[in-house]
Amino acid sequence: MSHGYVAVQWNEQKRRYDTVIGLALAAYIGIFTGLGAVTNPFATAETLLIRALGSAAIVLLHVALAIGPLCRIDSRFLPLLYNRRHLGVVTFLAGAAHGGFALFQFHALSDTNPFVSLLASNTRVASLSQFPFQQLGLAALAILFLMAATSHDFWLATLTAPVWKRLHMLAYLAYGLLVAHVALGTLQTDRSPLLAGLLAVGAAILLGLHVAAARIEVRADREQPRASDGFVDACAVDEIPESRARVVTVSGERVAVYRFGDCVSAISSVCQHQNGPLGEGRVIDGCITCPWHGFQYEPETGASPAPFTEMVPVFATEIRGGRVFIDPQPFAPGTRVAPSRIASRKGAEQ
Ligand code: HEM
Ligand code: FES
Repeated sequence: MSHGYVAVQWNEQKRRYDTVIGLALAAYIGIFTGLGAVTNPFATAETLLIRALGSAAIVLLHVALAIGPLCRIDSRFLPLLYNRRHLGVVTFLAGAAHGGFALFQFHALSDTNPFVSLLASNTRVASLSQFPFQQLGLAALAILFLMAATSHDFWLATLTAPVWKRLHMLAYLAYGLLVAHVALGTLQTDRSPLLAGLLAVGAAILLGLHVAAARIEVRADREQPRASDGFVDACAVDEIPESRARVVTVSGERVAVYRFGDCVSAISSVCQHQNGPLGEGRVIDGCITCPWHGFQYEPETGASPAPFTEMVPVFATEIRGGRVFIDPQPFAPGTRVAPSRIASRKGAEQ
């Protein structure tokens, strides 16, 4: 969003990310079908491919769902988040290929339309062992399609960030449907302890990561003490690393208190792009830069540099006795608020 920074575009980083995903998927399918052919010589190529694609898709979904909490726990995972949407699209494509082959293998030979056959041929919803598990896969695939189709920034801007975010939270519903798809499908016929174990370990890892990330969030959301004039005591100036921020919670909103040179400014920590944590970014070319996809905001106004139009609320700051205090009442996004000056060691503080 500045001359030197490339934001959300097709760039070298994304191409590398996509190549790694593509190669990993191809290697997984090759190894899975190769090993399957050796250990189970009676399995047809279609069956092996259906299984390889289905399991690859659910592994990819685990990775996509794990990236968010991993980044909350350790910022070294942030590069994975940069292109998470492409991972989601590949998950959909692998799931669609799996579903397509399964539809062809199990429903294409009947007189009825394969989709009608898929929906109508099994209605034994009261039976655990013969449950219509394929319909659960179809429902999950419909959700993954919706997410893949709206993954572009155009849809984010059109639907608005809160609606888009809510829509993409359906990934968790898709995950639940797929766990049921496997548990009521393959696991009923196969009873494979390995598959059951992998499914349980996957769910336990995802749950553990989300609980750990939620605990970090709860800690971060603790309100700071206030001075008698209502200003919030955010932190000591020296606790803020140069060109970086401390995040504090003010009246329920996360605020990023940035230090750059001898200045301190505070803006909302919620990025307008996808609610990324602005307080975990840094100042690049004079602008606060979101760690997720590089959207930038001027520290004094909370506005993105022209020609961009995103804006976040700005907070007035004061430095008292080496500590940063914040006025809890934010200014409207785009309002110019002079940064507080850090006095030199010997000088007086503003
Ligand atoms: C139209 C949608 C779908 C249909 C008709 C369908 C059908 C099937 C069938 C027939 C099986 C049993 C294969 C076998 O045991 O040989 C299966 C297993 C499986 N499906 Fe699906 N599926 C669909 C969607 C999905 C999606 C979207 C995913 C993941 C994103 C998925 C993941 C799996 C997994 C992980 C298995 C177990 C693989 C294994 O046996 O190793 N399915 N599916
Ligand atoms: S740039 Fe994407 S969330 Fe901030």
